[in-house]
Amino acid sequence: MNLLYRLLRWGHRFPSFLLPSPFAVALHSWGRRVLWSWITHCHIPVLPFTPPPSGERHCWGLRFRSPLFNAAGVFKYGEGYELSYWHGSGAYLLGTITALPRRGIKRWGIRQPFLSLPRSCAALNTLGLPNPGHHAAARIVERLPRYPGFPIGVSVALDPELKLSEALQRLLEGLRLYSAAGVDFIELNESCPNIPHDPSWRALEFRLRWIAEHFLSRRERSLPVVVKISTDTPVEVLPALLELLLQLGYDGITIGNTSTAYEALLPTIAPSERHLYTWFWHRFGGGISGAPLAHRRRQLISLSAQWIARHATAREFHLLAVGGIMNPTDLREVLSAGASLAQWYTGYLHALATHGDAVYRWMSSSCCAHP
Ligand SMILES: Cc1cc2nc3c(=O)[nH]c(=O)nc-3n(C[C@H](O)[C@H](O)[C@H](O)COP(=O)(O)O)c2cc1C
Repeated sequence: MNLLYRLLRWGHRFPSFLLPSPFAVALHSWGRRVLWSWITHCHIPVLPFTPPPSGERHCWGLRFRSPLFNAAGVFKYGEGYELSYWHGSGAYLLGTITALPRRGIKRWGIRQPFLSLPRSCAALNTLGLPNPGHHAAARIVERLPRYPGFPIGVSVALDPELKLSEALQRLLEGLRLYSAAGVDFIELNESCPNIPHDPSWRALEFRLRWIAEHFLSRRERSLPVVVKISTDTPVEVLPALLELLLQLGYDGITIGNTSTAYEALLPTIAPSERHLYTWFWHRFGGGISGAPLAHRRRQLISLSAQWIARHATAREFHLLAVGGIMNPTDLREVLSAGASLAQWYTGYLHALATHGDAVYRWMSSSCCAHP
């Protein structure tokens, strides 16, 4: 296992900005897939960690033994469940899953394009939501062993290959499958930049109303549903969106997904990595993740927390923070700002490379002071 972390660390330190851009992206894309599959197939880490009880969170009647867990996209196929538990994560989030299985994007001969920018603590990806589809994912969840204080969530999205009416029906079918499979919470991904969707307010409102009417209001058991939006969401839209979610019966909001503000975020990229960054988004588009999102995430989380505090109702509505959480200080910051829970992806990969099996032990110091 230590050898795999060493390889991950080596991958992070490798000066790929010296390679021609197509080689660097091909190497990163291949390396991510292969190394991740090796790491997640090692079930039990050498150093298991149980988060201290002082870090526990209680949301929607569920106990999260710690507020931090993986963001959607880390475990797309139900892999790494045991590893995540023994590392000390607060929950396990599977997906994003769509109705039909997807292999992800292949462009310019590169499957699931991905680029890590370690000097900028950032990454770019246009994987294109590879996943096994709702039926297979629900069967995977059904078979997972259950651990106390370690809820299982599933991230879902409308299938971009289907017409809207069919995509909504198939999403509904998926939600019912997950409910029957014993999933603890759902995250509705309304913000993936790598699949086509109508981003207009009218279209978003229609989708959210449809799901509320056909699923939320008819839930047979308590199954919280949160909506994940992009870190590019304009601040002016936020109050109306929060009001709509609360009114329709959603249980929280996750802020936020990757950004496509390529030019605006260019100054946050280390000078030595700028040519790779620019080459990637010109060829593939995709979403930016990691430290460059911290500023937008901070702004949106703080505004949302203030709005939620002003509009508190008897019903629980939680704020989940994600985007540029790279270290214990970032985690402490989002929890102090009012987030109930937090997720990470890019920071998680960086921390795994540096801290190996102690990845959640390293982060846990930040959450125990905020019961
Ligand atoms: C390689 C990669 C794949 C991702 N896949 C998904 C996904 O399937 N669904 C989703 O909602 N977000 C996905 N994301 C976005 C992350 O969940 C997260 O919102 C984003 O990366 C910001 O967090 P970070 O700065 O901690 O990485 C992905 C991100 C990366 C880097």
